[in-house]
Amino acid sequence: MAGGAVVNTSGGKDYPGRLTIFVFFTCVVAATGGLIFGYDIGISGGVTSMNPFLKKFFPEVYNKKQMKGSANQYCKYDNQLLQTFTSSLYLAALVSSFFAATVTRVVGRKWSMFTGGLTFLIGAALNGAAENIAMLIVGRILLGVGVGFANQSVPVYLSEMAPARLRGMLNIGFQLMITIGILAAALINYGTNKIKAGYGWRISLALAAVPAGIITLGSLFLPDTPNSLIERGHPEAARRMLNRIRGSDVDISEEYADLVVASEESKLVQHPWRNILQRKYRPQLTMAIMIPFFQQLTGINVIMFYAPVLFETLGFKGDASLMSAVITGLVNVFATLVSVFTVDRLGRRKLFLQGGSQMLVSQLVVGTLIAVKFGTSGVGEMPKGYAAAVVLFICLYVAGFAWSWGPLGWLVPSEIFPLEIRPAGQSINVSVNMLFTFVIAQAFLTMLCHMKFGLFYFFAGWVVIMTVFIALFLPETKNVPIEEMVLVWKGHWFWRRYIGDADVHVGANNGKGAMRA
Ligand code: BGC
Repeated sequence: MAGGAVVNTSGGKDYPGRLTIFVFFTCVVAATGGLIFGYDIGISGGVTSMNPFLKKFFPEVYNKKQMKGSANQYCKYDNQLLQTFTSSLYLAALVSSFFAATVTRVVGRKWSMFTGGLTFLIGAALNGAAENIAMLIVGRILLGVGVGFANQSVPVYLSEMAPARLRGMLNIGFQLMITIGILAAALINYGTNKIKAGYGWRISLALAAVPAGIITLGSLFLPDTPNSLIERGHPEAARRMLNRIRGSDVDISEEYADLVVASEESKLVQHPWRNILQRKYRPQLTMAIMIPFFQQLTGINVIMFYAPVLFETLGFKGDASLMSAVITGLVNVFATLVSVFTVDRLGRRKLFLQGGSQMLVSQLVVGTLIAVKFGTSGVGEMPKGYAAAVVLFICLYVAGFAWSWGPLGWLVPSEIFPLEIRPAGQSINVSVNMLFTFVIAQAFLTMLCHMKFGLFYFFAGWVVIMTVFIALFLPETKNVPIEEMVLVWKGHWFWRRYIGDADVHVGANNGKGAMRA
């Protein structure tokens, strides 16, 4: 039996409290932070397949694209500058998430979201008005800073607000908003591509201001989390807030006491960045690095960024390829809902393992279907029915991702760190995610050109590795209160060796959990 299943959550508590309307609404508003990330992911692929945009900024790619027939299908979009347009955003997000960690800790999660929204708004304006590549790329960088701040603060905010029993569901609101953002972008691209005068791409880029406006304004109305309030020295406000989010008739004293102890613990930690390197945090640090790395190595963003380009490579004409992006976008949203409703019952591991297997099979089929038609020369045509089969398997792949690595890639890291290293841990998560998002965005078109259909086998290989990793090393975290997570690691066959008994007694948790038993 894979040892990962051996977890000990029985010592954990279940604090009283229900899903209050108040907590539900705050979580919905906070989750809209995911919209800006999603809109970005979805918009670039469509825009970079629009002829007027290419003609204005990337004439070389445009000319190459016009050479029909003998041109190698795999290589027609291979252009460094074009990839930099897509990927610059992620590099900026990577760097800014480190600053965001400090903002999130010192002034709270709320202001981190606000900063993200505002920067993003400026970036959107710059992009919509772009006259040259410089404006385009500076705009993308500002959008990236926005994403860095939002992705740093939103998942943590959601996990701290949610009652443990519903944490998965509420946290996945973030991913759901990401997918809605991606879908909205695909629909908008589909519409603006039809504008004959050729300024459609401007509308697509400028409309990023809408989700940015929502999170900027929304964040002003959000309360801060009890955890953050305590940490910043407002214990009474924290208690009131906890009462408000759990229900005024609920006895919150135990949860509150645990938060206070967790916060006292965290005050002893002077250097969260150095601290996270301590042996007892090895499991969390490993997950903060490996989970986002693997999430990107699923290859999902090949589909998300470049779906229209990819579909065009497969022989779909302009409009049809944007339409296919709408289809994968819809599958992405609906499949994410599956995880919203199952993650706290089935748990994280089952979704990871099932989703991984489904992605693996679909990738192998897609790679093979493309190999059969285009071979290694990249020259060929796909009949309609055949292309439909490719789209079908791409959809199955997207669905598998959307109920596993998509949401869980954000949920799991946000729920495993003790308070003292939470912002630091989350920024490692965000920056590793952005680093590999950047790498894939930057390299995909070149990889497609050189690895051809083998690219799908390449990602399939990674999916095998990550699925085995989860089976062996990720304990189940469903329903475990966030400040009690240490018990889960302590009960794991592999990670237990990193956590001494004294490490478990620090924190409010273990002693009381045992007393109650
Ligand atoms: C990932 C993105 C991806 C998106 C697709 C997110 O969880 O971080 O990189 O594009 O899911 O829905």
